Amino acid sequence: MTTTSTWDKSSWRAFPIKQHPTYADKNAIESVEKELSGMPPLVFAKEADSLKEKIAKAGRGEAFVLQGGDCAESFSQFNANNIRDMFKIILQMSVILTFASGCPIVKVGRLAGQFAKPRSSDIETIDGVNYPSYRGDLINSQDLDKREPDPTRLLKGYHQSASTLNLLRAFSQGGFANLEQVHLWNLSFVENNNFGKKYAELASDIAKSLRFMKACGIDTSNTRQLKEVSFYTSHEALVLHYEEALTRQDSLSGNWYDCSAHMLWIGERTRDIDHAHLEFLRGVRNPLGVKIGPNATKDDILKICDILNPNNEAGRLSLIVRMGADKIGDKFPKLLKEICNAGRNVLWSCDPMHGNTKVASSGYKTRAFEDIVSEIEQFFAIHAAQGSIAGGVHLEMTGADVTECVGGIQAIAEDKLHTNYHTQCDPRLNATQALELSFMLAQILANRAV
Ligand code: PEP
Ligand code: CO
Repeated sequence: MTTTSTWDKSSWRAFPIKQHPTYADKNAIESVEKELSGMPPLVFAKEADSLKEKIAKAGRGEAFVLQGGDCAESFSQFNANNIRDMFKIILQMSVILTFASGCPIVKVGRLAGQFAKPRSSDIETIDGVNYPSYRGDLINSQDLDKREPDPTRLLKGYHQSASTLNLLRAFSQGGFANLEQVHLWNLSFVENNNFGKKYAELASDIAKSLRFMKACGIDTSNTRQLKEVSFYTSHEALVLHYEEALTRQDSLSGNWYDCSAHMLWIGERTRDIDHAHLEFLRGVRNPLGVKIGPNATKDDILKICDILNPNNEAGRLSLIVRMGADKIGDKFPKLLKEICNAGRNVLWSCDPMHGNTKVASSGYKTRAFEDIVSEIEQFFAIHAAQGSIAGGVHLEMTGADVTECVGGIQAIAEDKLHTNYHTQCDPRLNATQALELSFMLAQILANRAV
């Protein structure tokens, strides 16, 4: 693959591809692609451009990116309350971070399209019987008798994404995100724990500051920045049939955008050079992410930068580091130095989730809160030593009171994981753990600001 070879939205089809569904019925997938290609885009090119500018600022340390949401959205847990609670927790986290850091927090949900999952094995064995692995609701079902990839799921995913995005846009601009409502974002079940209380205190400080500004004669009643938020969507661009069908040429600029989300990322397992996922994403103008695991080499990353960001444009490429608390200290400093020395303009983000997954003795997949905290702390310390900018975090969390990650102030133990374990795929921080993590991160950002 070279950056001079011609790209079009289907050129990926000539490249090797990993983690991608093979549809048995070719006519069925073609007819779904045709239908999706005729549907309205979910996002507008200018919105993707504005997110790119904000990510560029975060790359310079003038903002900070908070990217988060479910590991995988699901068709069965789709309802307004879940979307509202996810939105609330993201708002709460960003208020905590803004207050401490004094810089804008760029809010990017893993939402409205985050349905498809790469898996470590193609096969799941249950009671000695092999089944194709579950690959996310966009591809197949968790039900063992519905594991064949079903193309009509792409349509269902599109419609669910459209209605999720519709509600998020309403919440962002319709008054729900008004800073005067900051105390109402606390979720009822966190109100009585330390971090819920800490958040309530912060909310009351913000309310007092707003009152003080009014008393000084500053009229905030029409200040858009206080009443609305910019909220962006993102997902792993895994199923390229879906991404291609939603890729459109912007009529104003003539450039191509993947209009399924503002930002798209490539996972750790599909970022091979000369493979289809890189080929597809190099041709769209959206801001992009690439996950970077512990085995990534300098050469891999430089090639990825050359392919996805040949003009070294700020904000275009986020490298989302997910090495694990036990490996980051060993692997990341040298890599960071090499990429910095090569002058690559990237946003460095920390995903402290995917390198810290383990299986509890009870059989549940989990992550320890202390490992998550440790990876973030090490990420910041490594950047401080290098003199580079830690520009964002990438989290799996939920606004619900689940028991999926162990530890935190609730001291969730392995033998309690079964009590409220609902994730479609990987374990998420619950709302209390998300607040706890935000206060920890706030402290780091506050120290950096002085
Ligand atoms: C994910 O973000 O859900 C994921 C699978 O990540 P990674 O590609 O880093 O393993
Ligand atoms: Co995950």
